[in-house]
Amino acid sequence: MDRGPAYDFGGATFDLNDTRDREIVRFVLSQALYGEATGVYCGRSLFAARSLEAADFYIRQARQEIAHLRLFADIFRALEIEPLPGHWVIRLLSSHNDYYPLKVFLEHAVGEGMVLDVFKDLLLATLPDSDPRVVPIKKKLRVVCSDESEHVAWGEKQTAAILAESPWLKTPFYGLFQLQMMTLPLAVRALRSQAEGHPVLRHLDGFVRHVQARATEQGRRLGFVPAKEPNAVGKAAAISAGLLLYTRSRFAKSRSRLEKIYLTELGFAEK
Ligand SMILES: [Fe+2]
Ligand SMILES: [Fe+2]
Repeated sequence: MDRGPAYDFGGATFDLNDTRDREIVRFVLSQALYGEATGVYCGRSLFAARSLEAADFYIRQARQEIAHLRLFADIFRALEIEPLPGHWVIRLLSSHNDYYPLKVFLEHAVGEGMVLDVFKDLLLATLPDSDPRVVPIKKKLRVVCSDESEHVAWGEKQTAAILAESPWLKTPFYGLFQLQMMTLPLAVRALRSQAEGHPVLRHLDGFVRHVQARATEQGRRLGFVPAKEPNAVGKAAAISAGLLLYTRSRFAKSRSRLEKIYLTELGFAEK
């Protein structure tokens, strides 16, 4: 997994003793907390796991996500702030999908890729080391980031395998990716009014562009973003194909797998 260079905030940090900055950090951390709560539901994917390797992954991931949930709760307590409800864009982006190809692509590869951008490139860079509460907070965040990198790597590996098996999925995946990228500016709109003159938030648009460029590069590497950008008609067609696939996926029934494949997976002859 090659993430490329991190966004450069030029050393700008939040002031955790300033009321306005505390509100901004509260908003960002609240989205993280909501995302981690829904992350725990990855345990549901165990039912449809296609291999013992996948089953192992989802068991480990569920434990990690529940640990992240508690780590973020500790961060709220350390900073003496109360969580807010999840933003509607975050709720939308973190909704569970039972259709395995969309799950690994939307949630793990792209979704958790963006989570990593926020935790690693934004929070680790902009929480001030001069504040004594921040050292233990960053220690926790680094643990979370290392786990999230694993989740993204899994998503990328599975997405690449699925696209090799079913190349027709590239177009709808590209359409859904376009929609995901369009929702990003909506998620940060709540912060825009405070961006002017703020040392960190004045980077808001630059950071969003960085996340979009990083995710686009990831998509090229995995093969669902075409090397040459399609024209408006091509993009609209991909978006329609993506929406159709997404709608169908909402009715997809998760099918159990392990009792059908366990003999082969364990190296015994098929009966
Ligand atoms: Fe997590
Ligand atoms: Fe995760």
